[in-house]
Amino acid sequence: MTANREVRVFDDLGALSEAAASEIAAIAHAATAERGRFSIALSGGNTPRRTYELLAERYRDAIDWVRTDVIFGDERYVPPEDARSNYKMAREALLERVSIPAERIHAVPTDAPTVSDAAEQYDRTLRGLFDGPATVDLALLGVGPDGHTASLFPGSPALDERTRWAVAVDAPTTVQPAVARVTTTFPFINGARAVIVLIAGADKHRVVSEILGGAEAALAYPAARVTPRGRSLWMVERAVLPA
Ligand code: 6PG
Repeated sequence: MTANREVRVFDDLGALSEAAASEIAAIAHAATAERGRFSIALSGGNTPRRTYELLAERYRDAIDWVRTDVIFGDERYVPPEDARSNYKMAREALLERVSIPAERIHAVPTDAPTVSDAAEQYDRTLRGLFDGPATVDLALLGVGPDGHTASLFPGSPALDERTRWAVAVDAPTTVQPAVARVTTTFPFINGARAVIVLIAGADKHRVVSEILGGAEAALAYPAARVTPRGRSLWMVERAVLPA
């Protein structure tokens, strides 16, 4: 497992978000030109919010939203109106502000009776979007201070999933919000044609330094196992990696 990462460092979250939105638009444009569609898995948390807003503000006409499939790389098992919902954040920052058809927004069905049901349904939804192996054009990801990415937490059995593309995970004990999640898995994430990891916040200094330093021990951090078959771009706020 080799990690061929391109790392770019930005002075602040504003600059990082501008560069991320521009990269996303370029990848969308290339995918649509080459394959007639663009698929993107969104990340949750707080870091990507400004990037999503910029996509709505500056790229609403540049991205072919009608040919764009939006997936969620992970979701908290809460209703779509709950403040902790990744869908809610993405809807408010981006999706309700661009002309994307509702049927191209593939939200995790958090109204399923159990989180396992939600994950099973989401696995089927994802399989319906790709012919054969998982080949999402772009997976956006974040990294938590405990080294998690998507909702793949340290020590979780979900880290060793080989087959399913979406699984249920218990509420994390290392970070908030402590609610059960549905997450995409490494078979899905590492099939991506491109991954962009957005990282801001000084509390991530230790894990991100270890991961980027390439120490063997860092493989205990789920984010270190992001080794997509395509491009891997890590966009990092300077506060995470002080000189
Ligand atoms: C989630 C996320 C998660 C997130 C990291 C980083 O639903 O919690 O998708 O993996 O990306 O926790 O979050 P921040 O960038 O907000 O710190």
